[in-house]
Amino acid sequence: MKTLYSPTPLVTHPDEVRIISRRFGQGAQDIDRYIALDGYKAARKALEMQPDDIINEVKASGLRGRGGAGFATGMKWSFIPKQSEAPKYILINGDESEPATCKDRLLAEYDPHAIIEGTLIAGLAVGAKLGFIYLRGEYRYLLEIMEKAVADAYAKGFLGKNIFGSGCEFNILTHTGAGAYEVGEESALMESLEGKRGLPRLKPPFPAIKGLYGGPTVINNVETIATVPPIILNGGKWYASFGPNEKNGGTRLTCLTGHFNKPGVYELPLGYPAKKMIYDVGGGIPNGRKLKAFVPGGSSTFLLTQEEAESATMDYDWFAKRGEFLGSGGVVAIDDQTCMVRVALRIMKFYRHESCGWCIPCREGTDWLEKTLARFHDGGGVHKDIDQILYLANNMAGRTFCALGDAAAFPTISIVKKWRHEFEDHLDGRQCPFEAASREMAIA
Ligand SMILES: Cc1cc2nc3c(=O)[nH]c(=O)nc-3n(C[C@H](O)[C@H](O)[C@H](O)COP(=O)(O)O)c2cc1C
Repeated sequence: MKTLYSPTPLVTHPDEVRIISRRFGQGAQDIDRYIALDGYKAARKALEMQPDDIINEVKASGLRGRGGAGFATGMKWSFIPKQSEAPKYILINGDESEPATCKDRLLAEYDPHAIIEGTLIAGLAVGAKLGFIYLRGEYRYLLEIMEKAVADAYAKGFLGKNIFGSGCEFNILTHTGAGAYEVGEESALMESLEGKRGLPRLKPPFPAIKGLYGGPTVINNVETIATVPPIILNGGKWYASFGPNEKNGGTRLTCLTGHFNKPGVYELPLGYPAKKMIYDVGGGIPNGRKLKAFVPGGSSTFLLTQEEAESATMDYDWFAKRGEFLGSGGVVAIDDQTCMVRVALRIMKFYRHESCGWCIPCREGTDWLEKTLARFHDGGGVHKDIDQILYLANNMAGRTFCALGDAAAFPTISIVKKWRHEFEDHLDGRQCPFEAASREMAIA
């Protein structure tokens, strides 16, 4: 069997509902093994279905985009015009650059045919003949696995001009980026794939109308698309039943990172209580420390306090009611010996580095914020800086071409609002009260 690349062993918990992770560790990279584990049954079934019925099944499942924005997948597919002079495309977003999010790589590594099968079904649903699987530059090591899987699917006649002997055509090409967070944004992703610099496009037009090479394009995250085959095979209602309601259907891969005793990627039902996830699935906080802050879904989300986190449920609705986001599945526990000013600084360092620089609020805002936070952390801050940080972040949010500006602003706003006292503790040249412990935990 092919060498596996993930440095950490697979973890499990009894509360997991293993739908898309069920083939992890089962050798499903091998196409015959994948077929033996029910692989390509859903694609065969989809070939017998009307395109609208495929879309309706996905709508009924309550599946929402796992890339972070949480848009309803069936609805997105239904926006693709039925008639189009320009070719239609399926584009799979495997850029996975949101800090703390590390699930798409497991799908590409352990179950690449699920991504291929989901892409093929999406193609049948919207009438596309070509799909692209775009992996982030740092995932080049997974390209070999993905390309072999695509070649094996062609050899079996599951891709190509006559898929499953049906007379239908569908092709897949793989592609890697060069290591930029920004190209995970769907319009920058298309620019990058077209061979241009990965800058976001103005919207509208939206990709469903004018996307890749000017054609109508479905863009879905790797996890979203890998979830489609079990939905088609078992029915949308079946999948939805694992979540709390029809708008929060199914399960998702949840990456527990940071200060957890049992970090790892777990497949949990939507609506799972965050408290149970932290203390039971994640094994609680190491070294007898307490939880101070909680990142629900990647570094671009609003952070929660311990109290908020312990009352949260991990579904889109719970966060939407608060004007916040469930995000991309990257959950981070931050313990009580961590400096929140430093957390804000670390996050801003990332966004300043990854800002594509195209629009001013993001380019200047992230740079200014990083400098202010760094000065603050080093004891050079003055009282009015605290409100200045909030002012800058609020002025970035909603004012940039793409949501990278929001991604930088939201965690910053929540940290300043909820842990303002920690900023005050750094005033008057005082040394960071958490410096030693932070260094010990190597958060930066
Ligand atoms: C700066 C930025 C980076 C993003 N990075 C990713 C990414 O790495 N992977 C991803 O699937 N979506 C990413 N997104 C979201 C995509 O724009 C898009 O919403 C998603 O790929 C759609 O797929 P889904 O509906 O299946 O989630 C990013 C968005 C922004 C603004």
